[in-house]
Amino acid sequence: MALPKRVFSGIQPTSVMTIGNYFGAVKNWVRLQDECDAVYCVVDLHAMTVSYDPRELRRSTKEMFVSLLACGIDPERATVFVQSTVPEHAELSWVLATMASLGDLGRMIQFKEKSRLLKGNPGGGSEDAGDDGTIDDRTFVSSGLLFYPVLQSADILAYRADCVPVGRDQSQHLEMSRGLARRFNARFGRVFPEPETLHTPVPKLLSPSDPTKKMSKSLGPKHFIGLFEEEDSVRRKVRSAVTDSGAPPAGDEASPGVENLLTILAACGFDEDADQMRRDYFAGTLRYVDLKGRTADALVALTTEMRDRRADVLRREKDLDGLIHAMAGRARAMAGKTLALVRDKTGMYPPGRRGWPPNPNPELP
Ligand code: TRP
Repeated sequence: MALPKRVFSGIQPTSVMTIGNYFGAVKNWVRLQDECDAVYCVVDLHAMTVSYDPRELRRSTKEMFVSLLACGIDPERATVFVQSTVPEHAELSWVLATMASLGDLGRMIQFKEKSRLLKGNPGGGSEDAGDDGTIDDRTFVSSGLLFYPVLQSADILAYRADCVPVGRDQSQHLEMSRGLARRFNARFGRVFPEPETLHTPVPKLLSPSDPTKKMSKSLGPKHFIGLFEEEDSVRRKVRSAVTDSGAPPAGDEASPGVENLLTILAACGFDEDADQMRRDYFAGTLRYVDLKGRTADALVALTTEMRDRRADVLRREKDLDGLIHAMAGRARAMAGKTLALVRDKTGMYPPGRRGWPPNPNPELP
């Protein structure tokens, strides 16, 4: 029997999980944990590439871990862990950095966009640090941002993953991961499979209050719906959602705001209702109060269930840090094997303490 494929994916810790995170990624992860050898990671090191507060990072990392459990990621069936608990990621990232060209890194769309945004921030100082060691959070462009895709490649390759479920926006990063795997294998001998991208169809969710933009936390609370959000707040956001933003619909798409509500309704499992309402829309008989009412009800059912499940997790897992620590052990056992091989192939010494003095490798001087 063929071994199940190993999948790896990561999610950045943020203050709260949105329905966008859930429908766009995590719901799919839950399904995959029964079909594959699944490894899921809260990537707190990636969150350090832009300005952040240390206490807030720790809090949101734990919150994202709890949220994953609440969504149904099961530590019995998947390896779910926090990136910074496994030092092998940062270690492999260095080795891969020596194989990534500055040119390739500078061409990454996400880097270009994020650094352009920072440089364009008003009122900021320079994109560099001052001589006195101070940096201006508003405009500083760290080289960590440039190396973001190298660290992402290290995440994936440390587990020698076959498949990586991600959104389309990550295609370029995955292409880089494959390139680095290929380059390493060619230079040092085969260690890594080239990870395939697993694009699953995901609904495109827009900001309820500005459906010309993607649903996003960074735009502010009106622009996203939290997966654990309270009923009142969910209903308020849906009630005030923009429906017709001016331009009349062209072709078979409704206006972006209406399309967004229909997408949310369908994502919540009410595809048939969404189809019916779409037909009503084009027949000119859809009342927006009805669309908003149905969508709000569907969302409230989802968020209420998720809040209950989150409360269950917190009741059940009295010692969350203990669980995070235990999962780190499991993840390190996997990544450690890869790193031992990488160190050997690249001519590095084994790490000190563990396994010291090193077994002399007769092939090396
Ligand atoms: N860059 C990914 C995102 O923003 C998060 C991520 C980090 C990731 N490491 C990963 C995704 C490894 C897949 C595999 O969504």
